[in-house]
Amino acid sequence: MFASRVDGLDVSGIRKLFEAASKDSIHLGIGEPHLQPADHVLAAYHDALDAGENKYSPTAGLSELRMALTDHYEGRWPGIEEENIAVTSGSTAGLYAAMQVLVEEGDEVLIPDPGFVLYSPHTRLAGGTAVPYRLPSEDGFQVDEDALVESITENTRAIVVNSPANPTGMCLDEQSVNVLADVAEDHDVWLLTDEAYEAFTYEGDHVSFLDRGLEKLGYFNTFSKRYAMTGWRLGYALAPPALAEKIRIVGYHMYAAPSTPAQHAALAALTGPEDHTDRMRRELNERRQVTIDAIDRVDGLNLVNPTGAIYAFPSYDASISSMELSMQLLEAGVVVVPGSAFGDEGEGHLRLTFAADPSAIEEGVGVIQKALEGT
Ligand SMILES: Cc1ncc(COP(=O)(O)O)c(C=O)c1O
Repeated sequence: MFASRVDGLDVSGIRKLFEAASKDSIHLGIGEPHLQPADHVLAAYHDALDAGENKYSPTAGLSELRMALTDHYEGRWPGIEEENIAVTSGSTAGLYAAMQVLVEEGDEVLIPDPGFVLYSPHTRLAGGTAVPYRLPSEDGFQVDEDALVESITENTRAIVVNSPANPTGMCLDEQSVNVLADVAEDHDVWLLTDEAYEAFTYEGDHVSFLDRGLEKLGYFNTFSKRYAMTGWRLGYALAPPALAEKIRIVGYHMYAAPSTPAQHAALAALTGPEDHTDRMRRELNERRQVTIDAIDRVDGLNLVNPTGAIYAFPSYDASISSMELSMQLLEAGVVVVPGSAFGDEGEGHLRLTFAADPSAIEEGVGVIQKALEGT
């Protein structure tokens, strides 16, 4: 009845669990910061509405915002100009559009495993095949160079990378970043880097793929996390002009243009004080510690301590699938995300967000402990 490209396509395990959860559940599933946007950003949104900024924006994004982005990235992307930028309806749309632009029928795209839920369906919707590369938990979710190189074939078109990572909370270290950049360059494939959580690192600076001087680089970021505006749907892609232009064109056919008032708010966020983001980072770091301590107290949970993003990804000692365990937890009133939603390597893990309230984290981990004792 429907086109084969949507056979088996579903919303991620994440959304399904959210929808099944009751109102009074403890939510350790949600992937967004705990605060509302900063006051000056909310004011800029309201002001835009009042000033009549309610019409279509240019598909590429407002020129003022793209100029502000060039200022913001000048040090990291020397010579960046407006033509390198596509403002998108969330980075989700930018990532999707990039796959549509780059991937042909039969092409392969290397995606991290465990990795964020969008990369594989986006590859498939573009006619390609997603080939997972392992980020083994025993190596702290860093890249296994041999396995990565073995996954490359003559059909490989792109490598997707994500750091700080969803679902592992891990930041790729300098060595992993170098390996990925070198492998992409040596094999002349695109490197698509999703750095949505770059504002949230807790142990050392973010190591970006921007600073590697790659020619075939697509960089995807978002206002969602750094400025706590997930619901306003605004992100951006930085790319060589030809790729940025194609992303804008595909964007036009998907959503016509990014939200106008949200762009005015984003401009205020980007050019205003960063103390709100600093506060979020500080509070998230405290919650991260609460999460690490709570998980450490549970015998059946093992954690590679997250160093970034807003997630902990413990494995558990029980012979039950992560989906079954998550369903049991849902019935016991706790929402977590089964590790299997993030690839084969994610099986045997649960994803918990530490953006949740500290008391909810403690309580939720207690429920997980009881469930594991019962298995
Ligand atoms: C790693 C990662 N990339 C991209 C996104 C998409 O963010 P948005 O579409 O809100 O910009 C998310 C959202 O959870 C994410 O976790």
